[in-house]
Amino acid sequence: MTLEAKWTALADHHAEVGARSILSLFDAPDRASRFSARLDYADRGQGWFLLDYSKTNLDETGFALLMDLARSAGVEARREAMFTGQPINETEGRAVLHTMLRGQPDPALRAPWVQEAAATHERMAEFARKVRSGAFAGAGGAFTDVVNIGIGGSDLGPVMATLALAPYHDGPRTHFVSNVDGAQVSDTLRGLDPATTLVVVASKTFTTIETMTNAATVRDWMQAAGVDAAAQMVAVSSAADRAAEWDIPADRVFGFGDFIGGRYSVWGPVGLALMLAVGPEDFDAFRSGAAAMDRHFRTAPLEANLPVLLAMVGVWHAQICGYATRAVLPYDQRLSRLPAYLQQLEMESNGKRVAMDGTELARNSGPVVWGEPGTNGQHAFYQMIHQGTHVIPCEFLIAALAHEPALTNHHRLLIANCLAQSEALMRGRSLEEARAMMAARGLAGAELERQARHRVFPGDRPSVTMAYRQLTPCTLGMIVALYEHRVFVEGVVLGINSFDQWGVELGKELALKLEPMLAQGADDSAKDGSTRQLLGALRGA
Ligand code: F6P
Repeated sequence: MTLEAKWTALADHHAEVGARSILSLFDAPDRASRFSARLDYADRGQGWFLLDYSKTNLDETGFALLMDLARSAGVEARREAMFTGQPINETEGRAVLHTMLRGQPDPALRAPWVQEAAATHERMAEFARKVRSGAFAGAGGAFTDVVNIGIGGSDLGPVMATLALAPYHDGPRTHFVSNVDGAQVSDTLRGLDPATTLVVVASKTFTTIETMTNAATVRDWMQAAGVDAAAQMVAVSSAADRAAEWDIPADRVFGFGDFIGGRYSVWGPVGLALMLAVGPEDFDAFRSGAAAMDRHFRTAPLEANLPVLLAMVGVWHAQICGYATRAVLPYDQRLSRLPAYLQQLEMESNGKRVAMDGTELARNSGPVVWGEPGTNGQHAFYQMIHQGTHVIPCEFLIAALAHEPALTNHHRLLIANCLAQSEALMRGRSLEEARAMMAARGLAGAELERQARHRVFPGDRPSVTMAYRQLTPCTLGMIVALYEHRVFVEGVVLGINSFDQWGVELGKELALKLEPMLAQGADDSAKDGSTRQLLGALRGA
């Protein structure tokens, strides 16, 4: 059977069973355990992670067809090619080696890559220790604050992980500046002392206009206060030569190869701000969690492989059921930036219109990814998730244990709300139930009928729940690596290159040409009428 025929078989199966309710699948007594997978791992001896995808409309046949599709699309061979450093980023002729940064590289990898990454990691750890102990200090003494300047992959990973691991912070305060909007840099610097602030300029290319503009502004801020900026700056980049143009000495430049994609780079020097906040040991635990997920991904059979399962559930929803978006709903306030992080990871990786060979995709690219932490989202957009006409598959994340032993009542409520949402989405409320509710409130006749209809929940809405012991550095590393590999599998199944991002270029080129047109009297005649009108309004103020 050709690959295309396998896609067709899945679509046919969906057409046959799509109308059947998810709840009815639980007539099989082992439904929950059959459609879930658990991973136990060393996290001070007690780490566990449970992926429950039983609240979806997948049955044995659909599952088998999905696994067959993944196998036939070459997931296993491609996975080996990634781990062993083959140039699978074909449009840029590069290997894809973020897994090497977890510190447990494959023996098949070329020695210089591995040695350089290990040596850089050691230098980072040494540097972080010196900053945290005060052995390396600013003009005014030990560093109290770190400002990380970067955008996209040079921002979202460290921001997300630094927020997530707040209970582990015992270093300087960490701040992040990404947007070229001067409001962010100005709000961040207000209240900071330039003489005790360390600045990390993180940019793979060291050319990104937002980062370079913010770095120049921060350098001016320090120099205006009489502080030698270069003495308190660090560069994180694949382009060490460009960092040198900023007079940052070589021992404070932390490089990485161009085979580390920006959105996959938090494990190496781009994670320096996180390492400064939590310390090298917890940063290593973060890496070791990811390494545990790498081992699992590489060795577990597809049918019990967490990233493969998560990916293929995603393929079922986005490609076969036709659901255009996916909500990521962490019931953990400290994971508030996880949806934004995953937006870049998933949408920059799999938001492509052509296959690896340049031909147009026969199907949709990856879905829109969005979300907010629960329970906040419940009081904002869950209305649509429950009763809107679009079906939105949801991914819930929840820890068994919080970090606030004095507030267990909060955490019980958090867990109860998380479970209640997936149950409500699946179960819904029928018109008969709604009518009974209204009758119990004393309504009758047309008014009862009218009110009841507003209270119907169609139900049968799919969700996946990821539960784990506690959000430790190790578990966070596992979760992030799980998503990285999920994106990889989805990309292979769609036949696209998940490791380039040509779609970001055109806007950057046009912005460079537009910026001079904001000057009074500038020639904008080559622009379309709308752009000219907007330029006129914005330059006139
Ligand atoms: O414009 C998109 C992008 O290239 C992302 O892929 C990347 O993470 C981000 O910009 C920042 O790039 P750099 O790290 O080179 O500054």
